[in-house]
Amino acid sequence: MSKPRYLAGPGGTIGGELDVPGDKSISHRALMFGGIAEGNTEITGFLAGEDCLATLHALQSLGVRIDRPEEQHVLVHGVGPDGLRGASAPLDMGNAGTAIRLFMGLLAPQRFDSTLIGDESLMRRPMERVATPLRLMGANIQTHEGRPPVEIRASKDIRAIDYTLPVASAQVKSAVLLAGLQAFGRTHVREPAPSRDHTERMLGAFGVEVLRKGPTVAIEGGQTLRGTTVKVPGDFSSAAFFIVAACLAAEKGLLLRNVGVNPTRTGLIELLLQMGADIRVHPHGNRERSAGTNAEPTADIEVHKSRLRGIKVPESLVPLSIDEFPVFFIAAACAEGETLVRGALELRVKESDRLAAMAEGLTTLGVENQLLADGLWLRGADHFSGGTVNSHGDHRIAMAFAVASLRAQAPIEILDVANVATSFPGFVSMARAVGLQVETP
Ligand code: S3P
Repeated sequence: MSKPRYLAGPGGTIGGELDVPGDKSISHRALMFGGIAEGNTEITGFLAGEDCLATLHALQSLGVRIDRPEEQHVLVHGVGPDGLRGASAPLDMGNAGTAIRLFMGLLAPQRFDSTLIGDESLMRRPMERVATPLRLMGANIQTHEGRPPVEIRASKDIRAIDYTLPVASAQVKSAVLLAGLQAFGRTHVREPAPSRDHTERMLGAFGVEVLRKGPTVAIEGGQTLRGTTVKVPGDFSSAAFFIVAACLAAEKGLLLRNVGVNPTRTGLIELLLQMGADIRVHPHGNRERSAGTNAEPTADIEVHKSRLRGIKVPESLVPLSIDEFPVFFIAAACAEGETLVRGALELRVKESDRLAAMAEGLTTLGVENQLLADGLWLRGADHFSGGTVNSHGDHRIAMAFAVASLRAQAPIEILDVANVATSFPGFVSMARAVGLQVETP
């Protein structure tokens, strides 16, 4: 059977209002933390995408009872700190890097063995970055040439560590903190640059004391999570496609409602503002946020068509916009002048090699660019051609090229798009509702 593809018609305008689906990072964490908490956790606004469903099914295999009265409404019956039990088969994480890496931290201190696997893309991704600090804590963990399957043997004596991350990674930080929660002593994790802090914020909401001082996060082992309510905000990384689409073509503006605007996630707004974008963030007050948002700030984001100029991306903003580079490169391809991104080596080990995949697709569309070891240089153009681009099975590459169609002069065919369902179920209908001419033929 041939793989699903998109056909995106050229041109068009963007407008209206929309609510993007729930945040992927927060949905994964709400399930996992709810699973090991004492008592029940109620999640609303849950992202019913394949990645988070992989986490949900893995927790069920580990003995956690989970009810789902509605698509986006989940009740997790926490089993408490010692309540997980070994699964009878390998745990399949699908395409989800966050799931496999956080589960490594959660399962390494358990008294049973676990094997973690995933789809073709996940089986190629690096896992030693998590296995290394966990081994320093006393975990018995094996990867296959650094990749999954990840085999974890039962451990009893997990010890706290003081660890400096070699790269800014929220997944590694979170895995070490989750193991630290079950370790003897106080674990310290130091980051070379700030990465998303959903784990720290949400552990606080589950009643765990997380100490934060400058670049260091510390957690005392042996604390128990208490079930809570989690109201998941709209995913900024999903909103990002429409923020850029609106910069390119929203003559009358586009309003994105209830988007998570945690400052460790919104680097794209800063980059687009530097490029001259007309973006207005209307933050929600405490009352609108109400209980259960776990100190995750939310806002409505209003975007108008803007004349963009190319920029040199400050390296400090790379971790704060790490998932947004595919669509950022589309914005840059439509900007006046040159754009340069360096210090973004991490993009090579995401769901695809995102630097290579974007360079390849942009070349097809006639955008002058140069692939660099740790980044990409490109020269913006007012319009580009159509053509067939390969998403390499990467959801964010697929959606980024759908946005590119707004400035194309002929249709763009985008191959291998099934994985859009990992993070953004309903992308095509939402995109069409605001004016993108994208369809699944
Ligand atoms: C995520 C962290 C980031 C990000 C990923 C989600 C998370 O990965 O790219 O999509 O939820 O912690 P890294 O930690 O590898 O940077």
